[in-house]
Amino acid sequence: MKNRLLRAGLGVAAATLVLPLLTACGGDDEPTLVIYNAQHEPLLKALAPEFTKETGIEVELRNGKDLELSNQIVQEGKASPADIFLTENSPGMSQVEAAGLLDKLPADLVAPIPEQYRPRSGLWTGFVARSTVLVYNTDQTDEAAMPASLLDLAKPEWKGKIAFSPTGADFQAIVAAVLDLEGEAATKAWLEGIKANGKVYDGNNLVLEAVNSGEIEVGIVYHYYWERDHKESGDVSDHSSQYYFSNGDPGAFVSVSGAGILKSSDMKTEARKFIEFLVNEKGQQILADSYALEYPLNPAVQLEGVQKPFSELQPPAVNVSDLDAKKVVDLMTEVGFL
Ligand SMILES: [Fe+2]
Repeated sequence: MKNRLLRAGLGVAAATLVLPLLTACGGDDEPTLVIYNAQHEPLLKALAPEFTKETGIEVELRNGKDLELSNQIVQEGKASPADIFLTENSPGMSQVEAAGLLDKLPADLVAPIPEQYRPRSGLWTGFVARSTVLVYNTDQTDEAAMPASLLDLAKPEWKGKIAFSPTGADFQAIVAAVLDLEGEAATKAWLEGIKANGKVYDGNNLVLEAVNSGEIEVGIVYHYYWERDHKESGDVSDHSSQYYFSNGDPGAFVSVSGAGILKSSDMKTEARKFIEFLVNEKGQQILADSYALEYPLNPAVQLEGVQKPFSELQPPAVNVSDLDAKKVVDLMTEVGFL
């Protein structure tokens, strides 16, 4: 076994969080599962202590953004202290997969997750999903005025009416889906169209705020931004609602959060136990009950109390293996978003 203290000291840009509960009961020489976590922190803060309670395995979360952490893992290569990588969207995971750094997950381990939410390679698995939506200001417009397709937002009639946050991994995953479904030329034309029509915000919460305040009519985000605020206070959701695209439109894209084990991990047995916990009913229920309000992918667990149940979504047939982070970044750079 490699010296984990030494590995932990290699210097990681991402914020380090050792869960207090875990430090309290673990000694210094106790092996700790290091998770590079790009998923929302509250979601893992709910899940990790329960995993430790059940298995006795300590967990250290190093939090960051999808592409920040995927780039870091690729850079660290075999010396990465990460045992597990969790992403918010799948393109960051595909990047690590393409670099040959993921260990194959045993088929029976990931069997609770339906096949379409796992890559063909078997190198990682989806564990929760988020639906693309259009939030719209209910004082200014209504559901009947919403476009049939996300691609329509590139048309001149939407000029000055749409908000989005192109620097975020959430939006970039949507672009990856458009690219997969429509091809490069159509995606570039769409990006140019929404650039001409749209207003750029730094983060999806700001998109939500701008739509709710009436600053702009509609915004492209995932469902949980509006759902969370709606559930908590309504502060930035009481003058807005969500429109779900349907019929397999690119706008009905469901983005999958991924979990994978690094080939270089020296704690593969423990890491597999974590994946097992994550995809089975107990872990999925913890995720469903958490503040995250993302859709569990194990069909035995349902997300309650949201506008649209998972079973009513009509996502396009996008294979998670095909979402290409690099091509998206190249295209968005060409168009001038990045
Ligand atoms: Fe997000």
